[in-house]
Amino acid sequence: MKKSGFLLAFFVSISCYAQKFDGLALTPPMGWNTYNTFAGNFNEKIIRDMVDVIASSGMRDAGYRYIIIDDNWTSTRDSLGFLTVDTVRFPSGLKALSDYIHSKGLKLGLYSDVGYQTCGGFVASRGHEFQDALMFARWGCDYLKYDWCASDGLNAVGAYTTMRDAIYAAKRPMVFSMCEWGNNMPWEWAGSVGHLWRTTGDITSCWDCIDTHGGKYNSWGVMYILDMQDSLRKYAGPGHWNDPDMLEVGNGSLTLTESRAHFSLWAMLAAPLIAGNDLRKVSKDVLNILTDKEVISIDQDSLGIQAFRQSKIDSLEIWYKPLKNGDWALCFFNRGSKPVDVNYDWKKQVIYDDVAKLELHFNKQSYTLRDLWSKKEIGTTGKPLTSKLLSHDVLLLRLQK
Ligand code: GLA
Repeated sequence: MKKSGFLLAFFVSISCYAQKFDGLALTPPMGWNTYNTFAGNFNEKIIRDMVDVIASSGMRDAGYRYIIIDDNWTSTRDSLGFLTVDTVRFPSGLKALSDYIHSKGLKLGLYSDVGYQTCGGFVASRGHEFQDALMFARWGCDYLKYDWCASDGLNAVGAYTTMRDAIYAAKRPMVFSMCEWGNNMPWEWAGSVGHLWRTTGDITSCWDCIDTHGGKYNSWGVMYILDMQDSLRKYAGPGHWNDPDMLEVGNGSLTLTESRAHFSLWAMLAAPLIAGNDLRKVSKDVLNILTDKEVISIDQDSLGIQAFRQSKIDSLEIWYKPLKNGDWALCFFNRGSKPVDVNYDWKKQVIYDDVAKLELHFNKQSYTLRDLWSKKEIGTTGKPLTSKLLSHDVLLLRLQK
């Protein structure tokens, strides 16, 4: 075949067959990522230590799978243009680390960026997308987080579709996690490109602060991120998730109550649950939050429907999430600084979910109430609910017919 004929066949075959890998991330991905605690200061030993804790602490059994090495692991390109890894921090090489991760029943996630450089200034994939995807596949990568720094002049749809196609051409299924911060409204076009897409800028480990990084860019506290999720729920579902960023549970300045609320709300949002705390120092209380199987089952529910804020009266918010088999999750959430009394007369409520097209009519159907954090049945919707919620606390319920 002449060279021009070969090239034509190559591009036709890519454009006909390239797609994202289907059947991945049918529930929101769960894992652990280096960035929130370590930023760029990690090495092979630290990652192995995290892997050991995840495998032995109950986290793996609770569903955490992807060990994601975020920014600051690439070194230079070799003479053929292939990516290499920093051998000072990864003396055994990435394949050995990947084998170790897989030997523990876990999966490897890597990070790159659409530009020539990552956000941290390290070598990234622009112009090398197919070659990098091939290398990621050779290293045994199962998940790629792909960032948006140094993207000047790039079209987001094009840049992310190119890497999607490159992953497909490398023939190794990888969850494709688009980290484009919501700048180009990926929820509107990325359903066939990525398995999840960031909806906001970076989270930071505080309840409701903004870190302005000296005026360069903003990182957002948990409450700010929560409020940016409104109206996006219709775009999420099995295999294509809104990503309100990683968990700050057990990290920085969040109290235990706030960590529990943050985890509950992310579960209601059907958000990816990517922990980012230092697991070598994790307390029993924080581990209990991260591994609570009943709360995780709300996040991982196979219907994959994101919750909606049904009401907001002063500091009390009420969120509803339909679940499979006709169950519902309900989260009463006090975002204020003072305790609030909850007096909720079910029979006065008619709840309609206009995305799932489901109605809840407590006069027609009664539900039992299970308090997921206290692990207690607390009655039925036949009688009004009365409770007190401390500042920043939640009452998270599963409703069953
Ligand atoms: C961006 C991303 C973060 C993290 C850093 C790494 O800020 O949004 O999640 O990956 O880059 O430098």
